[in-house]
Amino acid sequence: MSEAPRKKVLLSGIQPSGNLMIGNYIGALKNWVKLQDQYDCFFILVDLHAITVQQDPIELRKRCYDFLALYIACGIDPNKNTIFVQSHVPAHAELTWVLNCYTMMGDLSRMTQFKDKAKKHAKNINSGLFTYPVLMAADILLYQTDLVPVGEDQKQHLELTRDVAQRFNSIYGETFRIPEPFIGEKQQGARIMSLQDPQSKMSKSDENPRNYIALLDPPDLIRSKIKKAVTDSGTEITYEESRPAIANLMTIHRAISNEPFESLTERFAGKGYAPFKAELADMVVEFLKPIQARFKEIRSDKSELESILKAGAEIANARTQRLMRKVYKKLGFIPAG
Ligand code: TYM
Repeated sequence: MSEAPRKKVLLSGIQPSGNLMIGNYIGALKNWVKLQDQYDCFFILVDLHAITVQQDPIELRKRCYDFLALYIACGIDPNKNTIFVQSHVPAHAELTWVLNCYTMMGDLSRMTQFKDKAKKHAKNINSGLFTYPVLMAADILLYQTDLVPVGEDQKQHLELTRDVAQRFNSIYGETFRIPEPFIGEKQQGARIMSLQDPQSKMSKSDENPRNYIALLDPPDLIRSKIKKAVTDSGTEITYEESRPAIANLMTIHRAISNEPFESLTERFAGKGYAPFKAELADMVVEFLKPIQARFKEIRSDKSELESILKAGAEIANARTQRLMRKVYKKLGFIPAG
């Protein structure tokens, strides 16, 4: 009898920092939901990544449960997928150390996210912030991942992951599978921009909450944020690179409604921004309503959330221990007992 073919592995993670927002949903979570049936999926709450920026311990713990409940409320099925907390699986830190020894300083210093974060947290440019992409490479390579669905801002980290895996494989022979990124087009929401500054990406840890729409924002707040979102000169609802503010709002609309840009342009011809923004706000509110209701229910059952994380960590630990034994053997370490 021939063996059943191996189901391909999909893996992705979100840092439990700030407030999970519509950009994370459109750029990442939406694709997780869409792809979950076709792949053997691992979804990680990357708490080790989050501490590269100082976190309040009480808030961090609470946020991990919030994010887990939101994953599920958005449609991730905990019975079909492995969902876990990064710090529950020690191999992530172990493989990071190994990969650190195969990652060049020069490559890390070219990472734009490091440069941006170093600017933003000038008083806390710690070495974890610098080696952050190595931890991310370990997350991915530990599971022989085929596909990594992320937003456009993670592309450079994925390229580094592939380079490190290739370097290791070329020295020690086939060890790690080389992962493929899954990143939508910008027009499909791979890079949702800030509502007040369409030149910068929307960020869940933005100091100004008016820049993003959190998945848990109440309806009135969503309406007011969209109403006050900056717009470009002119009044037409047309998608043009030179009009980033309206292009961004149209992208959010389309990601939720699936309505083509041409149809939006036609429907709102000669009407100006206000009715378009009002429709978008209603749509986002209606879209988030059931997610928020499910979240409330799921979040109230902490013991269920804990058992999801426990089951996830068990699977992840078994998988990663096997891989770590293989890596250590290749390196020439004496096998432990
Ligand atoms: P994080 O927590 O910053 O973001 C989580 C996911 O949301 C995407 N994203 C966006 N997509 C579209 N528009 C935006 N404005 C926007 N902002 C964020 C991100 O691209 C990401 O997919 N390093 C990662 C977390 C991570 C990871 C991993 C991801 C750690 N290990 C392994 C994949 C595989 C991060 O900081 O994402």
